[in-house]
Amino acid sequence: MSSDTPARTPHAFVADARKAIYRVIAERRDMRHFRPEPVDPAVLRRLLEAAHQAPSVGYMQPWRFLRITAPALRERLHGHVAAEQERTAQACGERAAEVQRLKLEGIRDAGEVLVVALTDRRERYVLGRRTLPEMDLCSAACAIQNLWLAARAEGLGMGWVSLFDPEWLATALEMPAGASPIAILCLGHVDGFYERPMLEQAGWDERRSLDELIFEDRWGSSGDTLKGEQKGE
Ligand SMILES: Cc1cc2nc3c(=O)[nH]c(=O)nc-3n(C[C@H](O)[C@H](O)[C@H](O)COP(=O)(O)O)c2cc1C
Repeated sequence: MSSDTPARTPHAFVADARKAIYRVIAERRDMRHFRPEPVDPAVLRRLLEAAHQAPSVGYMQPWRFLRITAPALRERLHGHVAAEQERTAQACGERAAEVQRLKLEGIRDAGEVLVVALTDRRERYVLGRRTLPEMDLCSAACAIQNLWLAARAEGLGMGWVSLFDPEWLATALEMPAGASPIAILCLGHVDGFYERPMLEQAGWDERRSLDELIFEDRWGSSGDTLKGEQKGE
């Protein structure tokens, strides 16, 4: 590889637009604290359009979005997630008390609660999934990330809740056999965004150094091609 700095491609966005995309990536947070104001339905529609533009294996578009509007159903979801948090705490051994204290969802407070599910009959889609059937899940995760970033750009917070039993949730939402929920999303107005991941602020874990996560040619090699490369711009 040449050490010369390559010229920027003519297809690049203008500088401000490039900055905006890196900014939204850096300032997206998983949110658990919400204000009660409702989400404008037009904005919600835009966010779902953003989600639906995600890449998907074999173009299968496996995502389905269920908007939770019935208050009693939202309460049931909250009760189920609270019980699952307790079970998770018990499974975390010596960190149980810490997990009990963590705020891991905002189901009661968020303006919107959405459940994202993988559709049923996914076995019809083989392209790109013969050896890696879980690529459907990866595709739906891409859609959720699109939604997450678009929400941040719109000034709305979003939290991904995965503390639930998928079978329980599928039954509660009357999903067909084979469909599988992968996320409860809390979406809404916030007082502000956490400056750092909340789990980092709470002392749960830290962001690893990128340099430790990049290998060259073989697992574990500490190639130095990209080491210390600055963000530029
Ligand atoms: C697949 C997935 C599932 C997650 N499930 C939960 C969850 O159940 N509860 C929660 O509080 N955060 C959950 N999170 C959020 C992570 O805790 C969060 O992304 C991580 O701590 C980094 O923080 P950040 O998203 O603000 O950068 C989940 C994130 C992902 C990607």
